Amino acid sequence: MAILYGNFLRFILIAAITSSTLWACDSLLINNPSPQSNPLEITPLPSAPPVVTKDIEPERTPDAPYLQTPQEVVLKMLEMAKVGKNDLVYDLGSGDGRIVIAAAQKFGAKAIGIEIDPELIRESDRESKLAIAKTPEIRDRIKFIKQDLFKTDLRNATVITLYLSSQANQRISSEILPKLKSGTRIISHEYGLADLPPNQTKKIKVGDREHIIYLYILD
Ligand SMILES: C[S@@+](CC[C@H](N)C(=O)[O-])C[C@H]1O[C@@H](n2cnc3c(N)ncnc32)[C@H](O)[C@@H]1O
Repeated sequence: MAILYGNFLRFILIAAITSSTLWACDSLLINNPSPQSNPLEITPLPSAPPVVTKDIEPERTPDAPYLQTPQEVVLKMLEMAKVGKNDLVYDLGSGDGRIVIAAAQKFGAKAIGIEIDPELIRESDRESKLAIAKTPEIRDRIKFIKQDLFKTDLRNATVITLYLSSQANQRISSEILPKLKSGTRIISHEYGLADLPPNQTKKIKVGDREHIIYLYILD
């Protein structure tokens, strides 16, 4: 009898230990479900580091090298085009942004620079910050876009400034001029527009060098 009673007690003890162990495991599983606990649930992959494209080269060979129009010539170009506060000026191949900044700062216009070289876009941003620190009102009047000038929508332009090359100007004559609205003024430093007689030309000497400016007013 005593043996039977002892075995019964042992059975109760083992049953109690087993069920409490199972209960503990179960609650652990509920509180910390493993990724495989729900086969329909897809564990997201850790996010990949962003791909950094090295934006240091122009997307294609520029149509003209980078040269700067001297400030005196910039002012003369904008004066000849009679730039004012109602104008939207586009500088096609804007370099360090000097024409855009001068059009806004000195003539009150809105101006957009189109430049293919990303390093020059960065330079324009630096120049813009300096200009805005001096004349905060130009902040909303200047903008630079990294783009091929031949892919730019110029329908709203009232003034276009250029300092490119004779070949690039030839392409401008055939591809861009037909899309511009009548009355648009085009002002070009150094190179004329193929086959189009200018409305005005001006020569200006800076140091040893003579610069020529061509003005066209479209019919
Ligand atoms: C001679 S610089 C003139 C810079 C500035 N407009 C000035 O007068 O001081 C010509 C500029 O045109 C840019 N350029 C050449 N081809 C271009 C294209 N297809 N689209 C946009 N920019 C271009 C060059 O990178 C260069 O900065």
